Amino acid sequence: MSAQIIDGKNIAKQVRAEIKQSVTQRIAENKRVPGLAVVLIGDNPASQVYVNNKQKACDDVGFLSQSYHLPSNTSQKQLLELIQQLNSDNNIDGILVQLPLPEQIDASIVIENISPNKDVDGFHPQNVGKLMLRMPTLRPCTPYGVMRLLDSTGEVYKGRHAVIVGASNIVGRPMTMELLLAGATVTVCHRFTSNTPELIANADIVIAAAGKPDLVKGDWIKQGATVIDVGINRLENGKLSGDVEFESAKQRAAWITPVPGGVGPMTVAMLMKNTLTACDLHD
Ligand code: GUN
Repeated sequence: MSAQIIDGKNIAKQVRAEIKQSVTQRIAENKRVPGLAVVLIGDNPASQVYVNNKQKACDDVGFLSQSYHLPSNTSQKQLLELIQQLNSDNNIDGILVQLPLPEQIDASIVIENISPNKDVDGFHPQNVGKLMLRMPTLRPCTPYGVMRLLDSTGEVYKGRHAVIVGASNIVGRPMTMELLLAGATVTVCHRFTSNTPELIANADIVIAAAGKPDLVKGDWIKQGATVIDVGINRLENGKLSGDVEFESAKQRAAWITPVPGGVGPMTVAMLMKNTLTACDLHD
C-alpha cells in the first residue's frame, strides 16, 4: 500500500479563498477589513521567514497588516507597552508575537498581556481554557489546521485512537484537546514515555510534533493509519525533514502529510481564519 498524500498547500489555499470571500463580503457591507499586527523581536532567521509568510498571507486575503520588528535587546516593559497600544487599537483584531522571545522576556507574561479577544495564536490561558471546556473560540493555529487536514480525508475519527508525540504548549497539548473535542480517544507520548513504538502501533491517527527528525519510524505505523507530521527540521545539508520517516511510513499509512507542504501552510491559513473570527466577534 502507498498512502494518499494530504496536500496541505492546496487545502490552505482553499481556506484562504474562503477568507478572501468573507473579506469581500465585509467590504460590501461597508465594514472595515480585519487587521493583524505581527511583532518580531531579534534576528532569528526562521522567525523572520515565518513572519514574512504571515505578512504575505495577510496581503493575499486582503487584511490590513502591521509589522513591528524590534531589536533583540528590547525590554519586556517596552514590549508590554506596544501590546497595550495594540490592545486598544480599533483597527487591529489580532496580535501575534513571534516565539521564541529573547531570554530577558518572559513569554507567558507577554501572552497573558495580549487581550484574549485579539489572541489569534490561541495561546492566552482564557482561550486555552475555553478549548478545554468545549467552548473553542480562538484556537491554536497548528492543531486547528491539523483538524482541517484530517477532515479533508473524509475519514471518521470519532472513537478512533489518536496518538500524539510531543506535549508542547503550541502543538501537543492543544492538539489533545482538539482531538478529544472531535471524539477521538487520545494518547499523548512525551520525553518520559517508555513505550512510544507500541502505542503508535495501535494508533489510527499519529500526530508527530516533537521537533526531532525521523523520530517516528515507518515500521511503527499501523496499516491504514493517518499520519500527520508537524515537524519542520532543518538538516545540516539544508533540507527540511519532518518527525516521521516519510518513505517507509508511506508504505503502511492510508493518508500522510509531506514536509514541506503539509501542516506548515495550514498554520498560516488558520491564523488568518482566527483574525477574521476575532474581527467578526468584536466589531
Ligand atoms: N513560533 C513557532 N510557532 C509559532 C506560532 O504558532 N505562533 C507564534 N507566535 N510563534 C511561533
